[in-house]
Amino acid sequence: MPQESLEGVDVTMCGIFGYIGKRNVVKACTEGLSLLEYRGYDSAGIAGVVEGKIALRKRAGKVADLCEVLDLVHLDFAIAHTRWATHGVVNECNAHPHLDSSESFALIHNGIIENYATLKQEMQERGVSFLSETDTEVLVQLIAAEYCGDLAAAVDRVAKRLKGVFSFLVIHKDHQEIVGFANGCPLSVGVNEDEVILSSDPNTFLGQSFRVLFLDPQETVRVRRGSVEIFDPGMKQKEKRTLVMESILKPPSKGSFPHFMLKEIYEQPEACKRALEGRLGSNGVFFQNLLLSEESLRDSDVVWTVGSGTSFLAGMVGGLFLEEWASLPSLCEIASEAQYRTTFFSSKTMMVAISQSGETADTLAALRKAKCDGYKTLALCNTEHSAMAREADGVLFLKAGPEVSVCSTKAFTSQLILLALFSLHMSALRKRLGEEEILLLGKSLEQLPQMMQTVLDRVDQIAALAKKYARYDDFFFMGRRYMYPTALEAALKLKEISYVNANGYPAGELKHGPIALLDRNFPVIAFCANEKTREKMISNLMEVKARGAPLLAIAPERMKEVEKIADDILWIPDSSDPLAPFPSIVAGQLFAYEIAKARGCPIDQPRNLAKSVTVE
Ligand code: M6R
Repeated sequence: MPQESLEGVDVTMCGIFGYIGKRNVVKACTEGLSLLEYRGYDSAGIAGVVEGKIALRKRAGKVADLCEVLDLVHLDFAIAHTRWATHGVVNECNAHPHLDSSESFALIHNGIIENYATLKQEMQERGVSFLSETDTEVLVQLIAAEYCGDLAAAVDRVAKRLKGVFSFLVIHKDHQEIVGFANGCPLSVGVNEDEVILSSDPNTFLGQSFRVLFLDPQETVRVRRGSVEIFDPGMKQKEKRTLVMESILKPPSKGSFPHFMLKEIYEQPEACKRALEGRLGSNGVFFQNLLLSEESLRDSDVVWTVGSGTSFLAGMVGGLFLEEWASLPSLCEIASEAQYRTTFFSSKTMMVAISQSGETADTLAALRKAKCDGYKTLALCNTEHSAMAREADGVLFLKAGPEVSVCSTKAFTSQLILLALFSLHMSALRKRLGEEEILLLGKSLEQLPQMMQTVLDRVDQIAALAKKYARYDDFFFMGRRYMYPTALEAALKLKEISYVNANGYPAGELKHGPIALLDRNFPVIAFCANEKTREKMISNLMEVKARGAPLLAIAPERMKEVEKIADDILWIPDSSDPLAPFPSIVAGQLFAYEIAKARGCPIDQPRNLAKSVTVE
């Protein structure tokens, strides 16, 4: 028996899209794919039926590269795919859709077929040969082998044999239909009078309003022009609840900005206002539709924040808010590790899952595990209708508007606003801070948009500094307390879009090892705005300077003593410690953006990344 190893196979994390309707099918699919590119942009492809035959086009590269070579004008209906490779090289052969040997079926897939090796060997022993190394091709060959005239029934039979978390769409040249199956990866179906769309994300439905349904694990869907049928395993037909969704009318645009990242950095003052809107009143913090009762919140004695990347770092700042304002201990964990935890501080632990997309597989897995273990869960998401928003016991939306750039910016500051509000709410419920104090702190949050705007207005100064620092290939970012997660986040921004080696540290930790790396070619960016640790931070700046490393301080205006130590200073507005991450990170974001620009990096879609990481 072959080993069930995924080595060498093209496991995919990606966007899948299917279209049957009145619009031009090729155009509808490529528009849908462009909106799904946040799930991967290594390669793209489309397959549809025309004159009883499957037409297939695919390319290594972005959707725009596929569009450049798309000679298809008319298709009756089609499926389309954009890929982010996890295993297996990026090339045309591994790009989806994949065909069976008779070229009668085409299939696209998202996720992992864990037992693909056994299934592949079985097919090879039956004489089937494979063109690619993908698990996807195994799937399409299996369906072809099981097919006896009914595509959905073949899918149902094959699905029983598959292990893993995945979803897929398949078509057959003789049927005017698309059949889909989902097992843990998102698949939504939107239907209106003119069209039926299947997609990894309902936010890609362009047009009028849609009745939308989400497939649950193990469900098969068959869509035809004007009809949608859902089946449980064994082809038992079932009714499903749909919700009415107004679709977006046009895809987000960069407007006059050269990149989405810059636009989204500049949107932060407005996004923060929206995150606060309607949530602060004369009685303190108020959350509409939170779904978790005050009693159950009050009952929680530990908050367990989980997230990935930037969202994890927002959780770290949130942990400090909770401690400072609500006297609530918190455990901040990277989502991909959180699901392995077996011992908890308390059975009254509440998980707060933080995610811009609401679809990140690591965070979703941690949330599902916590739910399954009986813990209360709250999701902080930007994307409505996302899996986390649907599955958590309670949900708070960031209201930041679509974040398109892979590099997360406005989601971070909106997450911080929500975490600050949530901490004040918990403080009131737990009777920690007095009413007056909560109101004052709430009011101080309203100053944040202006504070961030002040930093945005200093863009020329930041760009000049970035130009000076753009020639270095290694950076340390450091800070204490609130400035520690801020430094980590600023380092993440820089490495992600500039491809330079940037690492964040607690400023007190450098002397325990990392300082050995410092020399005149290794700059340190110091986030200085935490007042409680002011003196200690000054000592850390001196330690860096003594090693000859170029030193850029991002410091509040009141901290004049920095002038004698740092080579360069970027002044930011004075603020209290809990609010300091906001102006500080705006400076960090602009600094990273300007360095990436100076180095000629692609910025909105950095290599090897995807906006939404839907595999674990
Ligand atoms: O959608 P999520 O917030 O769950 O995404 C989590 C991370 O993948 C994301 O924050 C990532 O680290 C960003 N690219 C950072 O800029």
